[in-house]
Amino acid sequence: MKIGVLGTGWVGLVTGNCLANLGNDVSFYDIDENKINSLKNQICPIYEPGLQELIIKNKNKTTYSTRPDEAIKDKDILFITVGTPADEDGCVDLRYIKQISRTIGENLNPQNFCLILNKSTSPPEALDIIEEEIKEIEKNNNIKYDYEIGCCPETLAEGTAIKDFSNPDRIIVGIKSEIAKGLVQKLFRPYALNQAEIIFIGPKEASLAKYASNTHLAARVAITNVISQIARKYNANTREIMKAVGKDRRIGQKFLHPSLGFGGSCFSKDIQALTFLSKQKELPGSTLLQEIINSNKSHTEHLIKDLLEHFNSLENKKITILGTAFKANVSDTRDSPAHRLIKILLELNADITVYDPKAMEETKKEFGDKINYAENENQATEGSSALIIATEWDIFRSLDLPNIKNKMQENPFFGDYRALYNEKELKDLGFKYYHV
Ligand code: UGA
Repeated sequence: MKIGVLGTGWVGLVTGNCLANLGNDVSFYDIDENKINSLKNQICPIYEPGLQELIIKNKNKTTYSTRPDEAIKDKDILFITVGTPADEDGCVDLRYIKQISRTIGENLNPQNFCLILNKSTSPPEALDIIEEEIKEIEKNNNIKYDYEIGCCPETLAEGTAIKDFSNPDRIIVGIKSEIAKGLVQKLFRPYALNQAEIIFIGPKEASLAKYASNTHLAARVAITNVISQIARKYNANTREIMKAVGKDRRIGQKFLHPSLGFGGSCFSKDIQALTFLSKQKELPGSTLLQEIINSNKSHTEHLIKDLLEHFNSLENKKITILGTAFKANVSDTRDSPAHRLIKILLELNADITVYDPKAMEETKKEFGDKINYAENENQATEGSSALIIATEWDIFRSLDLPNIKNKMQENPFFGDYRALYNEKELKDLGFKYYHV
């Protein structure tokens, strides 16, 4: 099939390359010339495991261009994958959706049916904007296009995006007509053969399903962390509690791991967007949604309380943070709990050293020479008074603890904020053990 992908960010590149890998001809469009030029040379501008390899492999099935006609004319399906940033209140900025909709309107072929699927996370209003923009161009130019606008929300997690796309639990597609359904079935047939369920619902329902999924997942993490705080007061083990909870088939095992709070570019942003919509429509649910965010942020403050209880003052205290990415296997530090923590520690004049297997560049961009950067986990902990695990990288699950303990200061603080270790083992080694 002939596919156009409009926007070469993370969602666009993963989507388009996975579809090219199925044998489709995929044309990418972006206004960013630098990005397009590097993609033309098969250089992937972002880190996502497997994506660079896929871009090289798909060389003959893909084109990258700053010319919209190449990606829009004569395509069976267009995916809109532009950015939808939000302001602090959660109001989603739909300016790029509007822009790309005009571009679509200026480049569609009146002879062909085209299915336009919005993949950018955005409220249902985005669908109206796409339609209004295209209609206006039809009216102004006195042409009639044959098209349908739908929504196919992105449900991939960073770090596992290629795997998620190729082996999905479900593919959510919001469309209305049988012709659109036929095209989508044809496109995703290889995945459907592999038992993936294509869920056909309305376009507005599909837009909201994306927000609803992320809000549910984020709420699970938020509740797990609150349970963990309570468990700590009873000296009870959260992992054991959540193992029991997850065995309830209505609940399930996933997203029940305690942490310093969820991070990343999606959860907070999407909950804020729903909070904004709730407030805007004068609905009472906004307080509950807002509380998920507030509660999530409280864990870093709680950790500071732990540190102050242990040390009294953090002035010049050498503190090591292992993991600055918002989760394991990514280089992304957006809304990372470790970065939230570093900001507070800097205000308290702590002497901070960090190590992350993939996110050091991002952390350097944000903190420059205000903190120290180690080359590995052992170097990071040398001479340190406190060690805090903020990200659950595999390498941090099997630290050489006796060796690390010997090289740290007396009575070291061990903050296991991903619940990777056994409290007794750590205490026996002489660490003072803390967790969420
Ligand atoms: C999330 C969703 O999982 C995807 O389905 C969705 O498509 C994506 O957002 C998006 O909207 O683009 P992502 O943000 O990449 O994906 O990361 P997750 O794996 O969901 O983790 C989010 C945060 O929750 C991370 O900081 C992670 O460490 C934290 N988390 C997750 C926990 O603290 N505990 C858990 O048990 C699970």
